[in-house]
Amino acid sequence: MNASPFLDVVGVNKHFGPLHVLKDCSFSVDKGQTVVLIGPSGSGKSTLLRCLNLLEPSDAGAIRFEGRDIAQDLKNAHLLRAKIGMVFQNFELFQHLNAVENIMLAPMKVLGLSKLDAHDLAVDLLKKVHIPDRADHLPDELSGGQQQRVAIARALAMKPKLMLYDEPTSALDPEMIREVLDVMAELSADGMTTVCVTHEMGFARRAADRIIFMEQGSIIENATSDVFFSGAASERARQFLNQILH
Ligand SMILES: Nc1ncnc2c1ncn2[C@@H]1O[C@H](COP(=O)(O)OP(=O)(O)OP(=O)(O)O)[C@@H](O)[C@H]1O
Ligand SMILES: [Mg+2]
Repeated sequence: MNASPFLDVVGVNKHFGPLHVLKDCSFSVDKGQTVVLIGPSGSGKSTLLRCLNLLEPSDAGAIRFEGRDIAQDLKNAHLLRAKIGMVFQNFELFQHLNAVENIMLAPMKVLGLSKLDAHDLAVDLLKKVHIPDRADHLPDELSGGQQQRVAIARALAMKPKLMLYDEPTSALDPEMIREVLDVMAELSADGMTTVCVTHEMGFARRAADRIIFMEQGSIIENATSDVFFSGAASERARQFLNQILH
């Protein structure tokens, strides 16, 4: 009777040479849930996200997505990445394309949409991220917060089943952080399954169903947001939270 989780990570390990950067990481995410991943610098958060969409191969363990173990299915990584949207700290937009063209590219190339349909989709998505009037601006004519929202819209254009964010607001000036987090929170509230690395604890409280705390490659704590913020179980998680809140 129990439906299997939408994303089920079981005993994932990863080494870079002698460095053991992911140690038996296990967690699961149900459809529609938002999970926030936190932890000190170097604890393995980015590596874990990159393993989820096979940007990095993991050494051992299973990553079940939609009921299938994808962990070692590297030859089909491109198919998987079409279903998993990823947003990075530094936006990584195509600098020579304007906002709408950045969003149109993948749906045309990968999904085979016509130029007209891709354009309509891009215009809709720019509305969704609250910058309908920036369609023909190049990235360097946009603020950081606007660029990041174009990057989110570009990821959404592939109709992903899962969104991964790696510190999406940490390169932004404070006044722009909010507008990006608001869009992410709206998407979460609309039911987008999400795994997000962020230090923005206001967002975590508002949008996350669960918080995962990592240290030195291990998942130390995995709790509902309510439980985590009302008193994380581990001393290290409490210390870390204290540091980033003050
Ligand atoms: N391509 C790589 N080659 C070798 N070592 C790497 C590589 N990528 C990451 N590492 C190492 O793996 C460990 C985990 O790195 P990772 O980037 O996943 O940490 P993080 O938790 O995302 O840190 P931060 O908060 O600073 O972004 C670190 O010790 C890092 O130096
Ligand atoms: Mg990182």
